[in-house]
Amino acid sequence: MRILSSIVAGVGLLAFLSACSEPNLDLVPILPEEVTYSGHIQKILNKSCVRCHGGAVKHGIDLSSYTLILESVGSDISEDLIVIGNPQSKILKQKLNPVSGGMYVYLSDSFEYDLIYKWIVNDGLRQ
Ligand code: HEC
Repeated sequence: MRILSSIVAGVGLLAFLSACSEPNLDLVPILPEEVTYSGHIQKILNKSCVRCHGGAVKHGIDLSSYTLILESVGSDISEDLIVIGNPQSKILKQKLNPVSGGMYVYLSDSFEYDLIYKWIVNDGLRQ
């Protein structure tokens, strides 16, 4: 009887431990209804891009202010860098593309890409 009850207790403990290791799905981030430069984009660009694209060092574009971003047109080919509403904008299609874009590695995660994408394509580069 003692053996049986310790087996039951052991199985109970195992079930408890495996329940604890379930992934927590509540933590998946949800995109805001409207992405804005001041609320979301500015801090991403300042953290990840401005050290190479702002002020003295530009590498073709300046991402350090809202006005400069709107004026930015890529210098290596004659295609607009950011075109409001256009998922083919060079910054999305070529530079930040999660598979082939050379600048994607500087983002912290795919959620930041999703924010930038939504800002350009759906939210009209809202300030
Ligand atoms: C460590 C330096 C560095 C960082 C950080 C960086 N870049 Fe770049 N970026 C470059 C260099 C160098 C080039 C030019 C060569 C090329 O196009 O790959 C460039 C080119 C670009 C271009 C094309 C510019 C043109 O003239 O057409 C875009 C757009 C761009 N980067 C976006 C970004 C974004 C957005 C971020 C932040 C997520 C970022 N970059 C972070 C170094 C950097």
